[in-house]
Amino acid sequence: MPEVTRDPSRAADVLAGGGLVALPTETVYGLAAVAGDPAAVGRVFAVKGRPTDHPLIVHLPSADHLEAWAREVPPAAQDLAGAFWPGPLTLVLQARSDVPGEVTGGRETVALRVPAHPLCLEVLTLLGDAVAAPSANRFGAVSPTRAEHVVADLGDAVELVLDGGPCDVGVESTVLDLTCGPPELLRPGGVSPEQIGEVTGSVPSRADHVPSQGPARAPGMLALHYSPEARVAVVDDPAEVRFAVVELGRAGVSPVAVLAPSSLGAGVGEVDVEGVDIVELEPAGDTEGFAHVLYDRLRQVDRLGLQAVVVVAPSEKGLGLAVRDRLQRAAHEI
Ligand code: TXA
Ligand code: MG
Repeated sequence: MPEVTRDPSRAADVLAGGGLVALPTETVYGLAAVAGDPAAVGRVFAVKGRPTDHPLIVHLPSADHLEAWAREVPPAAQDLAGAFWPGPLTLVLQARSDVPGEVTGGRETVALRVPAHPLCLEVLTLLGDAVAAPSANRFGAVSPTRAEHVVADLGDAVELVLDGGPCDVGVESTVLDLTCGPPELLRPGGVSPEQIGEVTGSVPSRADHVPSQGPARAPGMLALHYSPEARVAVVDDPAEVRFAVVELGRAGVSPVAVLAPSSLGAGVGEVDVEGVDIVELEPAGDTEGFAHVLYDRLRQVDRLGLQAVVVVAPSEKGLGLAVRDRLQRAAHEI
């Protein structure tokens, strides 16, 4: 078992000594190492089982540290940092030449953000330095939004877990590429495209993630990420739940969980499909509530040994875009 603490100075000490610490952020828990320490960053990849060409996000104590990592900081980056930092927006900028290749995955760009969780900010301020941190889960699995998720996933592979309670937002940060003319959305997340558009003057379009040639724009955004063991089926409307359950029943899948914004009540009772046991999970609530509980509910499905979960997804508005994106990836079958 790793050491679990609420003491930010303990976390700063372990990081300064070259150790790995799971840190709470407002999005998900991150597996952090001092960003300028290539050996420690290398261990992050080993622990996660993550391909080394997948770049990491550098978490800064404040926007004042931008110039230490970015070769140039365009006005749009200043504006967006001013509007959303600390907060769930990651900016991809041209990297300074001294940024370790371990962090950038050998690219000329670097991803930067200032996280909003007070304990995390305290660690960064005490450290006076940036940390590189991917989500603190094994590669491809569901991201952790509680300290106990990290302990369950990583065990002793991480020295210390800083327990900051359940993450507020619950899905990862938005990744925005500012190196490519008009800014492009590489990953929908905690800040919506509409919110970005209010600052930059135009809503960013989504980058094509699977270019016909060359490297992926944002590795780690390819299909089959964020997957629980259980099968995931996504529907738009409670009325479609029955059809999805019937399909699963035909494939011999049972028991099946159902996750929806509000209680399906009698609705689930009526989804009486022979041979399929149905478990209705506690409703996820509105779109913000959905994002907040999504990963915890997906983990619950596995803990309960359920074979599949049918999710009634929220609409694409606001955080809904990120929730739907993660559900689609979780639902992707190889
Ligand atoms: O909310 C979050 O962003 C969390 C917390 C811990 O901050 N972190 C997180 O990290 O989700 P990770 O490693 O799971 O995802 C990082 C994403 C990936 O999609 C990666 O491809 C993209 O950021 N990324 C990082 N550096 C990049 C770069 N130089 N160019 C393009 N995409 C980059
Ligand atoms: Mg991740």
